[in-house]
Amino acid sequence: MENKSTRIAVIGGSGHVGLPLSLVFSKKGFPVTLIDSDAAKIEMLKKGELPFLEEGGTELLKEVKDKITYSTEHSKLSESDVVILTVGTPVDEHLNPRITPVFQVIDQIKPYLRNDQVIVLRSTLFPGLSEKIYSSLQTNGLNVGVSFCPERIAQGKGLVELPNIPQIISASDERTLKIVHSLFSAITPHIIELSMTEAELAKLFSNAWRYIKFAVANQFYMVAVERGLDFYKIREAMMFNYERASDFPMAGFAAGPCLFKDTMQLASFNRQNFALGHASMLINETLPDFLVHQVKIAHSLEGKKIGILGMAFKANNDDMRESLAYKLRKLLQYEGANVICSDPYIEDPAFAKIETVLSLCEMIFIGCPHSEYRDLKFTGQKVIDCWGLYS
Ligand SMILES: NC(=O)c1ccc[n+]([C@@H]2O[C@H](COP(=O)([O-])OP(=O)(O)OC[C@H]3O[C@@H](n4cnc5c(N)ncnc54)[C@H](O)[C@@H]3O)[C@@H](O)[C@H]2O)c1
Repeated sequence: MENKSTRIAVIGGSGHVGLPLSLVFSKKGFPVTLIDSDAAKIEMLKKGELPFLEEGGTELLKEVKDKITYSTEHSKLSESDVVILTVGTPVDEHLNPRITPVFQVIDQIKPYLRNDQVIVLRSTLFPGLSEKIYSSLQTNGLNVGVSFCPERIAQGKGLVELPNIPQIISASDERTLKIVHSLFSAITPHIIELSMTEAELAKLFSNAWRYIKFAVANQFYMVAVERGLDFYKIREAMMFNYERASDFPMAGFAAGPCLFKDTMQLASFNRQNFALGHASMLINETLPDFLVHQVKIAHSLEGKKIGILGMAFKANNDDMRESLAYKLRKLLQYEGANVICSDPYIEDPAFAKIETVLSLCEMIFIGCPHSEYRDLKFTGQKVIDCWGLYS
């Protein structure tokens, strides 16, 4: 297969991983077919509207919109050389990976695969799954090459980061490896080859590593605050002109659709023998409880009007998946508070404007540090800001 003439189908192409990738490949001149089961999102894209916030996305969609083929039908992938899979890979209620949905998608696309095609698995996968998918296809008589090339972009920054992030690639065989090498070389200058299981682990290690680092900051935050000390003053002193502490994160709600579940996937892979990962989960997930408890020591929350500014899981983004601001809301409501939430990025008729929260609430939690809140003028309200927005 020749570079640029390689026809690419992206399954889950309207998603947070699939869409930036589709846009970038299309901009590079590859014929892209974007396939997604969500018909509403497909319709939005056809009209030039993004289904979620993506830096630079509106402009790039406008540029390449008419070059992309859109479909809700898996059959469309038969017209491609490379099929990239970007569907979600959540954990179940026991925090173990859900394997079945991945195989369901493979079953859905199987009737349309040809022997010379290549499947690139882009979703984050439980280690060993790429090999299993490869052998299940072989068992079914399909000599399709399988490759695992993890996505490592930060949510909402795909278009900015894809050209710069080194691409880890892996494949079931040499021919497939060559094809994906050539494909990703078109969008990034750095390619690193691993075996499929090594690549799966590299992705899980990356996310678990970040999750653990956030947990360290959150634990230190709790240690300081419990003693009436200013965590951010200590943090600043610790980091000032001191290279070895330069990657020490801010505290905050470590949440979203990836870090928690990938840390739990790694724990599951290691027979639940992952003390650091489990400890991090307990620290990160209980930060809202800690904040509510700290307030409760001095104030009853019963009947109080309490505001939460920011419900998304990360700043300047509209993604609320697994956001801990919702857990905070639930905890405050349980204490009898009248909680008024606000978020300039999320459309929810139950949410109030920032000004309403400021005028009605005597206590305000920062649920997500959107830049809109940076210059707010508070007029005597108690502000609970674990993120260090006002430090
Ligand atoms: N969100 C991120 O920034 C990010 C970063 C790196 C890796 N990842 C990983 O990438 C994967 C996808 O995450 P996401 O955030 O893009 O999820 P998402 O929910 O935003 O996107 C998945 C898309 O797949 C579509 N879809 C689901 N089942 C389908 C099917 N059977 N056929 C066709 N389309 C289907 C959905 O409609 C959706 O548009 C996950 O494994 C995640 O862990 C995500």
